[in-house]
Amino acid sequence: MHPADDLCGIKSKKLSKKRIVLGVAGSIAAVETVKLSRELIRHGADVIPVMTNAATKIIHPDALEFATSHKPIIELSGQTEHVFFCGLVKNPVDLLLICPCTANTLSKIAHGIDDTAVTTFATTAIGSGVPFVIVPAMHLSMYKHKVVQNNIEKCKELGITFIEPNIFQNKAKMPSIDEIVANVVINVGKQDLKEKNILIIGGATAEPIDDIRILTNKSSGKTAVSLANNAFERGANVEVWYGYAKETVPLYIPVKHFETIEDILSLLKSNKKTFDAIIVCAAIADYLPKKHKGKISSGKNKLTIECSPAPKIIQKIREVAPKSKIIAFKVEENKKDLKEEALKLLSKNNLDVVVANTISAFGADENEILIIDKERKSITKKGKKEQLAGYILDTIK
Ligand SMILES: Cc1cc2nc3c(=O)[nH]c(=O)nc-3n(C[C@H](O)[C@H](O)[C@H](O)COP(=O)(O)O)c2cc1C
Repeated sequence: MHPADDLCGIKSKKLSKKRIVLGVAGSIAAVETVKLSRELIRHGADVIPVMTNAATKIIHPDALEFATSHKPIIELSGQTEHVFFCGLVKNPVDLLLICPCTANTLSKIAHGIDDTAVTTFATTAIGSGVPFVIVPAMHLSMYKHKVVQNNIEKCKELGITFIEPNIFQNKAKMPSIDEIVANVVINVGKQDLKEKNILIIGGATAEPIDDIRILTNKSSGKTAVSLANNAFERGANVEVWYGYAKETVPLYIPVKHFETIEDILSLLKSNKKTFDAIIVCAAIADYLPKKHKGKISSGKNKLTIECSPAPKIIQKIREVAPKSKIIAFKVEENKKDLKEEALKLLSKNNLDVVVANTISAFGADENEILIIDKERKSITKKGKKEQLAGYILDTIK
């Protein structure tokens, strides 16, 4: 058994049974392809490396053979490897990913020139309709060259998807490996949320008690981040409004931050976008503490914090987004109350779906949820929050 086989699917099954040809061109970013191919394998993919001669001067083919368990294809042979993997055959690969792609390779692809193994795979994939993603990486001066830009446009017209580089310190840098993997998942997946604009409001509110202390709760943000990842990987345009929580939202998903209920109300007021769906899984304060100026002095024998009921955010969201599908979360202490309380919340606020769970969900990796819609149709699901996110998003399709 090759060492790469031990890795297969250890992180997720998102790319299980997917075969990906990884074309590597002669950019310095080729040094990242060992990590990239191993991450794709961790999500279940079989990665077949193909290299240009220039790439072999930057990273040794043995490194990619070690990473993927396949000998990199550098010269085509009588096996016609380009046709075997990317041609009009019974079982072509699921994706051709050229990462990193040089100015030279993408320009040749735009003009149908194939004089390296990588460009011949490209020509074949375009002709047979194999999904094709390019991740360009080069110095900014090359990236800004008008002809290179025109060639990128030509490639896009040919149906090739580009993952845009991060422009940083005069370089058009390859995005993070996580971003590339997420885009690979989109491109080999069913894209059943494509074109959907989805807003996810997650995390906890943090209401000030004085100038340095806050009243918050134990929301980890895991549900919000799981929903954002799942929606992104299914092709949706995702935006996250994120409160006080420790889970990190991936950098490639746009985020707006809030701390207080007042902040959420301001975000609602300034928002200009129309969302097909709004998912409110944030743990929003039910009571607002009366705020003291400065610092409540320490050393008191007793301190009482006066609170008043907070405005109900879900009502405001329905008011400003009358046409959006709204999915709200309801937390109860006891499982037996979930259905009844979920139905009350649904009808009171004219919601589309309520996801009800108990307080054991807070901070946990797993959860049990009741998903109920306005026709009172309900299902119960139990599992990791990443898996549950999929069931919740199925209600938007
Ligand atoms: C160390 C080194 C780093 C390079 N990095 C890049 C790069 O990031 N992007 C790029 O377009 N070309 C880069 N080049 C230039 C390409 O290697 C060169 O254009 C080559 O002809 C590309 O061949 P290929 O497209 O067949 O791989 C680099 C060259 C060297 C020597």
